[in-house]
Formats: sequence, C-alpha cells, structure tokens
Amino acid sequence: MDDFDVLPLHRNKHFTKQCCDLINSEWPRSETARLYSLENSCDTLPTSLVLVKNDGNNCKTVIGHLKLTPIPSMPDSVFVETVVIKTNQRGLGLGKHLMYKSEEYIKTLGLKTVYLSTIDKKEFYLKLGYVGCQSISIYGSFSSAVNKLTTNIPPPPSKKQYMKKKLM
Ligand SMILES: CC(C)(COP(=O)(O)OP(=O)(O)OC[C@H]1O[C@@H](n2cnc3c(N)ncnc32)[C@H](O)[C@@H]1OP(=O)(O)O)[C@@H](O)C(=O)NCCC(=O)NCCS
Repeated sequence: MDDFDVLPLHRNKHFTKQCCDLINSEWPRSETARLYSLENSCDTLPTSLVLVKNDGNNCKTVIGHLKLTPIPSMPDSVFVETVVIKTNQRGLGLGKHLMYKSEEYIKTLGLKTVYLSTIDKKEFYLKLGYVGCQSISIYGSFSSAVNKLTTNIPPPPSKKQYMKKKLM
C-alpha cells in the first residue's frame, strides 16, 4: 500500500473536484450541493478523508473517500459516512486500507468509538471488526426536540443496520 495516501481533503483542496466526481458517480447529486458539503471539511469535524493513488510522475488520483461527522450527543465518538472506492479499484483491499488509516486518524483526534450505518455492506464492516449496535442520531438538540414531540409515532421501518467499533 506504499503507493497510496489517506489525506484530509481541506489540506489538499486540489483534490476536491475529483473527490466530488467520485462520490457523485456512486450517489448522484447536484455538483454545487456536493462541493458545498465537501468544502465544510476542517480539522475539527466534519472531515473528508481521501484515498489517493500515486501514479508516478507526481500524478495522483483520488480513488476513495469517507467523511467523519460529529455526533453531538457522543463527543468522544465519530460517525463515518459516504465510504466509497472507485468502481474499477474495488476488491483489492483498498476499502479496508482506507478504513484502517481513517481509524488511525480518528485516534489522533482523541476519539474512541466509530459508528456507521449500512444497508447492504454489513459483511465488509464485519471483516473490519465492526459489530451491530442500536441506531444513533447524528443530529443535535433540534432533532431531540422533534423526537419529544413525536414519541407516540412509531419510527418508519428502516433497512439500515447501525454498527460500531471501539478503537484501542
Ligand atoms: C464497500 C466498499 C467501500 C468496499 O471497498 P473494497 O475496496 O471493494 O473492499 P476491500 O477490497 O477492501 O474488501 C475488504 C474485505 O471486505 C470484503 N468485502 C468487500 N465488499 C464486500 C461486500 N459487498 N460483501 C461482502 N464482503 C465484502 C472483501 O471480500 C474483503 O475480504 P477479505 O479481507 O477477507 O479479503 C466498495 O465496494 C464501495 O465503494 N461500494 C460502493 C459504495 C458503498 O456501498 N459504500 C458503503 C456505504 S455503507
């Protein structure tokens, strides 16, 4: 994996357009909205991390991305989302590499637990040491207030599986 780096996007802004195109190739959305979201990346959270391949001759290509989002109710935890590897680079261990490097980065922030949700990639995360857990909210007090107003309304059925991993 010597030819690959995992870098914070906001410290490597020249990768923003490539990163936007990669994410939009998986989850199409307006480029403006996607760029706006990516431009929020910062040293505190949220942070977008990009997996970059060194192609030689100082040429680098973005082939992976994930986003670290704060969880207001759990300040020592982080939520990982928008995990994606470029289609033609899948199945080579790069998703695993991106996740492990990101966990190292998360530890440098002093954070102890990683949460995420998935619909159909549970097996991938199980292999990385994640275990199923109860659903969590990544929204702050407004959402809590809404929840209080709607406690008698059963939540809609969700196919999402929440998972977590404690970092050593
Ligand atoms: C999910 C994703 C990031 C995995 O990346 P990847 O580079 O293909 O995965 P890796 O090659 O690193 O796989 C690591 C391990 O997980 C396994 N794995 C990967 N995807 C899997 C899947 N869909 N089902 C079961 N196992 C899977 C691999 O077989 C490998 O196992 P091994 O360590 O025993 O060899 C990639 O497929 C992707 O970008 N998918 C589309 C976007 C997406 O669905 N993201 C997840 C949102 S929750």
